[in-house]
Amino acid sequence: MSGFEEKEYKVFDLFEKQWALVTAGNMERFNSCTVAWGSLGTIFSRPGHSGPTATVYLHPSRYTKEIMTESECFTVSFLPEQYRKAYGVMGSRSGRDHDKAAEAGLTPVAMGKAVTYEEAELVFLCRKIYQHQFTKSDLAKEVCDYYIAHPEVYPPDENGVWQPHWVFMGDILEVRDKRQG
Ligand SMILES: Cc1cc2nc3c(=O)[nH]c(=O)nc-3n(C[C@H](O)[C@H](O)[C@H](O)COP(=O)(O)O)c2cc1C
Repeated sequence: MSGFEEKEYKVFDLFEKQWALVTAGNMERFNSCTVAWGSLGTIFSRPGHSGPTATVYLHPSRYTKEIMTESECFTVSFLPEQYRKAYGVMGSRSGRDHDKAAEAGLTPVAMGKAVTYEEAELVFLCRKIYQHQFTKSDLAKEVCDYYIAHPEVYPPDENGVWQPHWVFMGDILEVRDKRQG
């Protein structure tokens, strides 16, 4: 784990282009989904933790969000390029009615109190330190309009009302980095 902050992470590339899997829960009960929105950075530096954090954003319609809200820890896992299809499976089906990991050909493994996948080449194990849903009145109008225009991607709640994402921020506890170079 030590020294991970000195390594190179092309964060815009990692999330937006490569994508990641966010996994909430533990080996007894977990679920993952593909994400393209995420951040690595620094916040809440304090005695005992120098501040590196990972932040992910889950829409309330995702099963992963349901488990994440109750989880102490989560992982953000990046798969090698040959697993692009697995990202497709994890990002288009719901763990509510699919064994997505099996369908995607991924092998769940424990990491601390959380779960990642054997196939991942870069994993951040995080302890959740913040969760909250974005406040509609504080979002830029064009962002609200974007949500409203895409109900197929961001399904409305049971009352038919659009909902913004939840933000989940975690202290980085451990990093597994099997990347070449
Ligand atoms: C490329 C890609 C990126 C995605 N990014 C996000 C994201 O950042 N946040 C999110 O909530 N959903 C995102 N999704 C959608 C979820 O992965 C998708 O709805 C998934 O089926 C949810 O599964 P679950 O219900 O098992 O949690 C993305 C999907 C794809 C294909």
